[in-house]
Amino acid sequence: MKAAILEALHQPLSTRDTDKPLPQKGEVIVQLKAASLNHRDVWIQKGLYPNIKTPIILGSDGAGVVTEVGEGVGEYWLDKEVIINPSHGWGDNPAFYGNEYTILGLPENGTFAEYIRVDARYLLHKPPHLSFAEAATLPLAGLTAWRALMTRGNFQPGCRVLVTGAGGGVALFAIQFAVAAGAEVWVTSGSDHKIRKAINLGVKGGVNYKEPTWYRDLLVKAHAPKSGYFNIIIDGAGGSGFARLIDVAAPGARICLYGGTTGNITDVVPAKVFFKQLNIHGTTMGTEAEFEAMIRFVEEKKLTPVLDQIFDLEDAEAALRHMDSGEQFGKIVLKITD
Ligand SMILES: NC(=O)c1ccc[n+]([C@@H]2O[C@H](COP(=O)([O-])OP(=O)(O)OC[C@H]3O[C@@H](n4cnc5c(N)ncnc54)[C@H](OP(=O)(O)O)[C@@H]3O)[C@@H](O)[C@H]2O)c1
Repeated sequence: MKAAILEALHQPLSTRDTDKPLPQKGEVIVQLKAASLNHRDVWIQKGLYPNIKTPIILGSDGAGVVTEVGEGVGEYWLDKEVIINPSHGWGDNPAFYGNEYTILGLPENGTFAEYIRVDARYLLHKPPHLSFAEAATLPLAGLTAWRALMTRGNFQPGCRVLVTGAGGGVALFAIQFAVAAGAEVWVTSGSDHKIRKAINLGVKGGVNYKEPTWYRDLLVKAHAPKSGYFNIIIDGAGGSGFARLIDVAAPGARICLYGGTTGNITDVVPAKVFFKQLNIHGTTMGTEAEFEAMIRFVEEKKLTPVLDQIFDLEDAEAALRHMDSGEQFGKIVLKITD
């Protein structure tokens, strides 16, 4: 089979023939129709991720058709159109994952391949209203956005939500989920063009985080009190901008941090955090129950993920470079088989 393989750190992905996997007990083989990229794939290639092993087939997200079932798996799954939950072995505690926790695409081979071997418990039916390319974008970013907004953010109808970095994969799902759930949603982005696109998705407005006064401008635009406005803030950037999220948070708000794209958090004023009684929550991907709830919500609301660009599997390296450029609005997809 063909797969896009990271042979060694800092090397471009090479798409070449490799052995097709065989299903073990409890597993199935999925013929992937589409896969999608996450920033994790870029971090791994750059060596900025723990416990990297090479060679590895990258990719956490995929959708396709079950072609083989292993021992102990009912034939029910054969020929079914599925998406794969990449959050493996979370364990029994919904608050925190256990020692066995892994993410598909490292250490196990991932979805940038014609076939993948996966435990049948991580299969879900593809939402029928989505194409394979659209469905392939959901797993990692959708689950991360869901847990951040619904579980860690304790979303309630009527919440005012701020999502930073509107162009990102996780950010866009957080926006779509919050809008569909009836929130008043605002965004930041490094691009005015992306803010306009977010407004087309139902966002009320946004500001460009490259403007030094963005946090003040945001409160003015939202006609908000100086004491802060947003009940839930979803952030994947961290860095020096994080301190400003504390300024725009409403008293008692939840700030849910799922990434550190811009590095270490600096200049947080402790008094602002404690006087405002803020809740700062770390959050990641989530449980199997959260994955199912996220997919149910997408089906119920007939949400369509935002696709940025579709590349062929042969061009997986170009797709990674596109993600690294930060120009995308929405998910970057690899088309794998027809
Ligand atoms: N903890 C987890 O389980 C988990 C899961 C998924 C992702 N992550 C992490 O979350 C981050 C985003 O992942 P992704 O896959 O969504 O990446 P992505 O699609 O490549 O998006 C990158 C994001 O960074 C934003 N950004 C860049 N500079 C920024 C700044 N100064 N302030 C605010 N936002 C800024 C971009 O916003 P604009 O394009 O709008 O400017 C965009 O939202 C990555 O660091 C990733 O490793 C963690």
